[in-house]
Amino acid sequence: MAYDDLRHYLRALDAAGKLHHIKRAVDKDWEVSAVGKRVFQRIPDEKRPALLFENVKGYSIPIAAGVLGASRAVYAMALSAEPQQIMERWEQALRNPIPPEIVDSGPCKENILTGDAVDLGKFPVPVWTVGEDPGPYLTAPQVCSIDPETKQRNVGTYRVQIKGKNRTGLWVGETQNMQLHLRKYEARGERVPVAVVLGTEPCIGLCSVAKVPVRQDEFAVAGGLRGKPLQLVRCETVPLQVPAHAEIVIEGWIDPAFREEEGPFGEYTGYMGPPGASHVIEVSCITHRNEPIYHAFISQMPPSESSTIRGFGREMGIYKHLRQELGLQVRDVHLKHSGGSAAFLAISMKKDYDGQARQAMWGAWAIEPSLGKITVIVDDDIDVRDTFQLEWAMSFRMQPERDVYVARDTVAVRLDPSIGDLDVRQDAKQKMLGSKVGIDATKKHRYPPVSLPPKAHMERVDEVWEGYGFSD
Ligand SMILES: Cc1cc2nc3c(=O)[nH]c(=O)nc-3n(C[C@H](O)[C@H](O)[C@H](O)COP(=O)(O)O)c2cc1C
Repeated sequence: MAYDDLRHYLRALDAAGKLHHIKRAVDKDWEVSAVGKRVFQRIPDEKRPALLFENVKGYSIPIAAGVLGASRAVYAMALSAEPQQIMERWEQALRNPIPPEIVDSGPCKENILTGDAVDLGKFPVPVWTVGEDPGPYLTAPQVCSIDPETKQRNVGTYRVQIKGKNRTGLWVGETQNMQLHLRKYEARGERVPVAVVLGTEPCIGLCSVAKVPVRQDEFAVAGGLRGKPLQLVRCETVPLQVPAHAEIVIEGWIDPAFREEEGPFGEYTGYMGPPGASHVIEVSCITHRNEPIYHAFISQMPPSESSTIRGFGREMGIYKHLRQELGLQVRDVHLKHSGGSAAFLAISMKKDYDGQARQAMWGAWAIEPSLGKITVIVDDDIDVRDTFQLEWAMSFRMQPERDVYVARDTVAVRLDPSIGDLDVRQDAKQKMLGSKVGIDATKKHRYPPVSLPPKAHMERVDEVWEGYGFSD
């Protein structure tokens, strides 16, 4: 089923018992962040709901958070799929994108604010790492831009710092697709038109945080994911198109040659990301629906919504590359939440011959050069999402001297605090390079039988489990 907009999707989450309404008045400047973090710490993944803060002190606008990635089940709901179909859904959408259609108008035009009426302060933008962040940040912006030469679109989620009523900071990492656009505009000496979209049907948000190949349009891949074209409308003050049913659209311009201090910001690694000189958006117009809903991602210390949505969005790119392009018999690819869904990659596969584990490492690093600082390859009998099984394979199917491989001068995991001292700024060149360790924890020779009771005996015990006095 294709959801029409965020509201339609929230109703579906509600009907499935996956949306928790918080009616108590909350403070956006400290409480939203603390509640979000506690929800991730106290409620296990299988029970964790998305959140709707209905009563934000001083605002009439609710905050929806965790709605794309409170859990694996919520992520699957965003795709209208079962959790075990997530990879397959992505594979199909990348192979069969559905281009968006342009319509004349849409609900996002219900209110059009220009000139003095532009005021970002009207939205309840939370402060996330209180006492450390310099102010409120948009964490779920879908930043839309186009290539000035090819007109290829890009949509990416990059942190946006609120700096005034019509001014924001924007931090786009060096390897991100939008950088290609920024560099081209800078070389042409032209301003960059940009639109920051907040609150849409869920598939755009999932594409915005996923490594969609640079030549593919995120709006078309989102169309492929939902099985129906997205509807786009033209912006008011910039030559861009945005989802017609978006809750809020912030239009503006970037001077690509200008940089200003941005950050520090509490990051997905679980540490503060350092400040640096970064881009600025001068806001030219805001359009929004009547009674808009403000959408935020819960990020910072993992596990978080950010590690869930980035994890799946990146795993699928590696999975597709290893299986489709390299023809490897890969069972699963998992970026561990403890590594912020970036630093720690585990891959299970059936080897055709010795040495293929290294091919899988290199394949993963080639397609996603900043990910997998620690990459572990295991046999296909190991469930890489089960940390105990992964550690068991590393403990007894690997010899460090033979099976550990270090690659130097590789693209670093962005924001990895182990790269440099505290005074190394975000824009420093040394932040770009690091190294990787590949661990081949597959069996290299014949193994003894496992020391478990026979399967038939275990199944007989399961059948009469309560008979032993255990309740489930
Ligand atoms: C909550 C959240 C915040 C993010 N913030 C940033 C950011 O500030 N800068 C950045 O370069 N990437 C950030 N990312 C990662 C990008 O969204 C991601 O790498 C995406 O693939 C970028 O789009 P692109 O591939 O079109 O460049 C963030 C992801 C999430 C989930």
